[in-house]
Amino acid sequence: MPPNSFGFTRPLLVKSHWTLNDIDWSEIQPDAVEPALLEAVKAAALVEANSTDYVKYLHNVFAADESFKKAASHWGVEERQHGDALGKWAQLIDPTFDYEQCLRHFRAGYQLPLDVQASVRGSPAGELVARCVVESGTCSFYSAIRDRSTEPVLKQIAGYIAQDEARHYQLFKTHLKRYLNIRKMTVLERCKIAYARIAETDDDELAYAYFSANVAFSDLSKRYDRRSCAAAYAHRTTQLYDFKHVRAAAHMILNAADINPSSRLSRLGVWVAWKALQWRLVRLQSAVAD
Ligand SMILES: [Fe+2]
Ligand SMILES: [Fe+2]
Repeated sequence: MPPNSFGFTRPLLVKSHWTLNDIDWSEIQPDAVEPALLEAVKAAALVEANSTDYVKYLHNVFAADESFKKAASHWGVEERQHGDALGKWAQLIDPTFDYEQCLRHFRAGYQLPLDVQASVRGSPAGELVARCVVESGTCSFYSAIRDRSTEPVLKQIAGYIAQDEARHYQLFKTHLKRYLNIRKMTVLERCKIAYARIAETDDDELAYAYFSANVAFSDLSKRYDRRSCAAAYAHRTTQLYDFKHVRAAAHMILNAADINPSSRLSRLGVWVAWKALQWRLVRLQSAVAD
């Protein structure tokens, strides 16, 4: 099987084959970790572990779809494992970090809309487009961490997680195709949902996770400020990406929107996205320096 854009050669629709016992924890090298990367990983661990709540939401939205509910339950277990692996790694690097306590803080302050009976994206297919966007983003994020980290254990964990996220993308895309056979969606409809989901990366979820993981317990006098926490998290993460990570994520999103990623317009769009990310990093650097 030829490697895909992220360099994976394993089949994508099989279950995860790793557990925390497969991580070479004894190889950990705390001195090889940059503080900014550690902060980003702490926050990511909380978001991953909170996916358990998202399973409840998906079960509500797809209440009559037993095969999808089963897949969503397994997906939630894998996401929780991502959080546990990252949380354990962060605790070994920084023994003052209490993963479970920070997770409780995060879950107490950030709530997903669990009581809905229909997708907030307007339709089941819309929900699956949004899920594809999220998995594209996480796949590129952990691929970037894998490639950027000089700490061997984090490199190993991020490699395992990135492979899982690529499979998750394929899982949601497979179900998306099934729902599109019931009700078609135009390319424009899919693009609108994809754009809206990308724009949501600035909402409370990541910012509050950053606050819970990095601020709330180290300085009890500090109150949550969404804007500064969102900027701090984005600053820690934006600097991780190379062009290849942005391009691969864009290709996955374009595919989910039924757009040919090889077209001239798509290639221009990817280049614009890369330039926009670099421009954003410059702005973030001055924002966090203020
Ligand atoms: Fe994940
Ligand atoms: Fe995932």
